[in-house]
Amino acid sequence: MIELIDVAYVRSGVADLDKAVRFATEMVGLELVGPADIGADQADRPGQERGRSAQLRADGRHHCLALVEGGSGVISSAFTVADEDALAAAETELERAGFTVSRGSPAAARERRVRSFIGFDDPFGNRIELVSHQVTVTKPVQLTRPAGITEFGHLCLDATDVREAYRFWSTHFNARVSDWVGDAACLMRIDPVHHKLAVFRGDGPGLCHMNFQVATIDDVFRNWHFLVDNGVGIQMGPGRHPQSTAIFLYFLGPEGFTYEYSYGVRRIEDDAAWRPRTFDPEEPGSIDMWLGPQRKPSTQPQLRPAG
Ligand SMILES: [Fe+2]
Repeated sequence: MIELIDVAYVRSGVADLDKAVRFATEMVGLELVGPADIGADQADRPGQERGRSAQLRADGRHHCLALVEGGSGVISSAFTVADEDALAAAETELERAGFTVSRGSPAAARERRVRSFIGFDDPFGNRIELVSHQVTVTKPVQLTRPAGITEFGHLCLDATDVREAYRFWSTHFNARVSDWVGDAACLMRIDPVHHKLAVFRGDGPGLCHMNFQVATIDDVFRNWHFLVDNGVGIQMGPGRHPQSTAIFLYFLGPEGFTYEYSYGVRRIEDDAAWRPRTFDPEEPGSIDMWLGPQRKPSTQPQLRPAG
């Protein structure tokens, strides 16, 4: 059993780096911490990552989003494990289970601001990285605009079969289902937060959305007006998820990358007492208890290595 400690980062490939960075800073509000050349990265994912990249920060993590110039599409989604021993044990367990696992080079680990990492594809083709010793930065976060972001909250992947996805995450990892939305979504926790990982049913692998928590309900609504005033496409919300009780707003960034702000996510402190519930996606209010227009946020497809 591999114990995931937390979400670590998302790496997303963009054809237009400058535009994607402008959106992530000026619209989303993230802090730009470092454009860096990542030529050394090519050894890990040949043909996929090249040229320039940018790192964006939302909380104590050195960065939680890396935008990488090249092909358009999500490159990987990462979780932290406890330490080097835990990472080595995870590598062994995944290999024994039949997954092809690759070790990141020292240069690629430095670029990610982690000590070591491994990468593998989940059964649906989502590229996952497990990292040890992600760097924490103490300097206060300087959001580009006052969006109220407090942390990278969760990530959501697509899979063609949500039940099978849960089998994967609960067999090899410490993920436990918090709630089901029929066969359309599985919301999983790896700590008391209602979900740090979600899997939505989709046509293929990809990142459905990346979530940022904000400090107050007012931030959700202020951000909503700000985004609408700036012509940003709202995908869903403001609304309230009955599962996590979070007040949400999904909106679309460049190259099909969906961001989410949310406030007020449920914490499950008594793990043993929690019983996962099932919500029928066809029932009114099952996604948004305020009964707003519902549609699945659009997914940024998984980028495959060239050739
Ligand atoms: Fe979400």
